[in-house]
Amino acid sequence: MVYKLLFVCLGNICRSPSAENIMNHLIAEAGLSEQIVCDSAGTSAYHIGSPPDRRMNAAAKKKGIELVGQARKFQASDFERFDLILAMDRPNYQDIIYCDGEGKYQDKIKMMCSFASNHGDKEVPDPYYGGEDGFNYVIDLLFDSCAGLLDYIVTNNQLSP
Ligand code: 4NP
Repeated sequence: MVYKLLFVCLGNICRSPSAENIMNHLIAEAGLSEQIVCDSAGTSAYHIGSPPDRRMNAAAKKKGIELVGQARKFQASDFERFDLILAMDRPNYQDIIYCDGEGKYQDKIKMMCSFASNHGDKEVPDPYYGGEDGFNYVIDLLFDSCAGLLDYIVTNNQLSP
């Protein structure tokens, strides 16, 4: 069985592609690339087809991560395709929940920051209209959250390389 993760933000050009690429990096380091796969999506259609934001990529590169991907919109069929859906902030979470009209998939939807252990944030802040520090902070927070998320998945699914 391959465990499938979907990271979701608003535009799918800053936070969720960062989470996806950082998570892929940690999964590869752990030797679990055959067992856990990642994708990302946005709740909006604003940037469909676009690559990750240049400022976000610059922040990721400082930590050794190259952001790759092409923005797409979250769709209801993602509920069946993925095992876990990680929302970056509360509006993202609410938008995803709204797509799950019957409440069938609620257990699959979680807040990304609930896996962080070195940050008290409840949400991954939207860096889009801010400065460089905001982008750097998102990368730090996502490294922390992704590490906790990987531990959670490995433990709950008894995965080993
Ligand atoms: P993201 O950031 O949701 O982390 O990809 C944003 C990207 C674009 C916009 C807002 C946030 N926007 O308003 O276009």
